[in-house]
Amino acid sequence: MVDVSWSLRCVDCGAAWGGLDVRYRCDCGGTLDVIHDLEALKGLPLMQTFDERRASRDRLDRSGVWRFRELVLPLDQAFVTTRPEGNTGLYDSPRVASFAGLASFPLKHEGENPTGSFKDRGMTVGISIARRLGMTRVACASTGNTSASMAAYAAMAGMEAFVFIPDGAVAAGKLSQALAYGARTLMIAGDFDVAMDRVQEVCRLEGIYLLNSINPYRIEGQKAIAFELLQDLGWQVPDWIVLPGGNLGNSSAIAKGLGELRQMGLIPRMPRLAVIQAEGASPLYEAVRDGCDLVPFPKASTIATAIRIGNPVSWRKCLRGLVASGGVVERVTDAEILDAKAVVDASGIGAEPASCATVAGARKLVKAGVIGHDETVCGILTGHVLKDADTAAGYHMGTLSGIDAQRANPPVRVSADIDALRAALSR
Ligand code: F0G
Repeated sequence: MVDVSWSLRCVDCGAAWGGLDVRYRCDCGGTLDVIHDLEALKGLPLMQTFDERRASRDRLDRSGVWRFRELVLPLDQAFVTTRPEGNTGLYDSPRVASFAGLASFPLKHEGENPTGSFKDRGMTVGISIARRLGMTRVACASTGNTSASMAAYAAMAGMEAFVFIPDGAVAAGKLSQALAYGARTLMIAGDFDVAMDRVQEVCRLEGIYLLNSINPYRIEGQKAIAFELLQDLGWQVPDWIVLPGGNLGNSSAIAKGLGELRQMGLIPRMPRLAVIQAEGASPLYEAVRDGCDLVPFPKASTIATAIRIGNPVSWRKCLRGLVASGGVVERVTDAEILDAKAVVDASGIGAEPASCATVAGARKLVKAGVIGHDETVCGILTGHVLKDADTAAGYHMGTLSGIDAQRANPPVRVSADIDALRAALSR
């Protein structure tokens, strides 16, 4: 007897599965959605409740995920592991807006989550459902942020964590977190797509709980980015939300959350999603451009290692969200990402490279006339600037191969002599 109010449903064939089944795919191979009883919630003053919880000191109310628990996962709170997540800043920098060609361009900085990326929003739900299911061992493949987040939350929940990462392709700020939080870290001879393939097989053979965003509960937590963004905006719906795309879990999540708000009549329309990929890792861009199924990139490549993914697991869910929201996919070069990052960083906000695909992509879409100058546009910054300090330093010090750093701010080597120091103050 299932004692929960939600169930699972296949995205491809619609087959229904139990809310406490340990499965990540349907028998047909399709990925799964968590289905909530939205009818039972209709008529409740949810937005008022969510707003009231912002002033509460309750452990769950203080989380920018569990504050929205009716729409995320109505789980018995005894199982919830929370830091708390969310409550991230929304920054509207005139410098960033003007770079993108917009009058205003508020950026929600998900790098302000407990482990420095948006992944914590999905992970609090993933680890909490793992506890509900009685799991003691969890695993993920990762380009770095998921592993950092899972390692931390698993440690807090007293679970054993196994991290599968591509050897040599994870930024030091993320690898060091996985190690420091105590995860058993397997550096695999292969890229993220190989690690993703292998972790699914090992989890199946070993009965370890898989916490990649193929796990539908991770998606439920990540929906809260959209909920909190709208709450920040006084529940006014922007015309666009722009965000980077890698494995495409986050864009799927945000689209699902917004779709549910729309379905319940809590918002009058969905914002359009603009998903931005790095050129060397842009299989979704090509699928949409060519109007066909996704063809994986066998050798994904970009300096934004977080989104160096050639075979995104959640592409069908993401595509569904793009269609529902009238969204678009764009792609940007590494040089465009790094120049946008230089602007985001110099505005005092700062974010890791993949995050700044958001700003580079918005600029490109505004230039192309897809996004209008006068439209309301919000962006998501997904990770903290210190996640990938090497790329930031390399950009400014001119040591990144193949990158002509247009906005470099190189350090000045100078003797400790006062006159020399004074002379060095002017650029
Ligand atoms: N931005 C950052 C900083 C990320 O770490 C990721 C994904 C994305 C964007 C893309 O999100 O995969 O949901 O489309 N990082 C994963 C990881 C793959 O392992 O940390 P997505």
